[in-house]
Amino acid sequence: MDTACDGCQNKHKGKHDISEGSSRHVCKCRSREESIKIDPGLDQAAANPGDEIKASPGNRRPDRTHYQEELQSRIIKSIKDLPPMPQVVIKIQGLISDLNSDITDLAEIIESDQAVAAKVLKMANSAYYGMSGKISSIHQASVLLGYQVLGEIVTMAGVVGILSGSMPGYGYDAQELWKHSLSAALSAKMIAAIKNKDLMHEAHTAGLIHDVGKIILDRYILENMDQISVYMVQEEKSFLDAERFIFGFDHAEIASEVCRAWKIPEKISLAISCHHQPSYSCGDELSYVLHLADHIAAKSGASYDEDEAFAELETGTLEFIGIGRDEIRDIMLQVLEAIEQF
Ligand SMILES: [Fe+2]
Ligand SMILES: [Fe+2]
Repeated sequence: MDTACDGCQNKHKGKHDISEGSSRHVCKCRSREESIKIDPGLDQAAANPGDEIKASPGNRRPDRTHYQEELQSRIIKSIKDLPPMPQVVIKIQGLISDLNSDITDLAEIIESDQAVAAKVLKMANSAYYGMSGKISSIHQASVLLGYQVLGEIVTMAGVVGILSGSMPGYGYDAQELWKHSLSAALSAKMIAAIKNKDLMHEAHTAGLIHDVGKIILDRYILENMDQISVYMVQEEKSFLDAERFIFGFDHAEIASEVCRAWKIPEKISLAISCHHQPSYSCGDELSYVLHLADHIAAKSGASYDEDEAFAELETGTLEFIGIGRDEIRDIMLQVLEAIEQF
């Protein structure tokens, strides 16, 4: 049975795209703000293989309880408590995709925010870029590092403070989320270099902020920790499953709301909202790149059963990207080394 989605213009087959709601099927296409509702009547009419259902806009989350709806609106309101993304980072996201801009524009924007500029200089002098102690001005950084690299450093400088706090709900010490995010950013850039070089900058940005939803959810996790623990033990489920069970949504959905508030480009926001289930993106390359990068960042440094670890990736991810396990091991090693140099 095929379902034509108004959002992505694709036809979907299989379990990943269509799931049972309480009274209807829902296409979880996240290339649009709302998902697609399919009337049960239409579903019945198209029950034979090869039949086609025309989907229509509808409610995204039909199974959500009143408590979950109320909780989500409280959580979304609390996004305003998150420090704003520095304007300089937002401007630079736009600048990098503007073919008419040049490095002088970039340097000027960075210099307009002294706090960010100071962090940019510190990062530019890190061992990772091989310039230790050699860069003393933004102009010099722009000449020595180039446009793309400087753009990435600005994004890192803009979010490092936001991502560096401890998170008792998730059990993260200070810097833990930052290190995971940085690992995901570096991995995503390397994977994008294999899949599609044009995605490298967006992949880096997406990797950096993909788990920002956890910062918002952290205190609600803490409030509901007993329920979460019981659910995980009794049902033998993951933490991510528990988020979905308790809240009716997960940190990836909240992160996409943060992206909207921060005016992050839609393409990056889509990948972030799908970073645990890239098949929901309707074949978006960046979503798959980010999914694998998150996996690499989570597994880097751990000694683990490789088959078991790869089973956590969504089926088809490696084939979609066109990457082998040897290349993934290489990226893991490079990322581990790189993290120590920042
Ligand atoms: Fe995540
Ligand atoms: Fe992550």
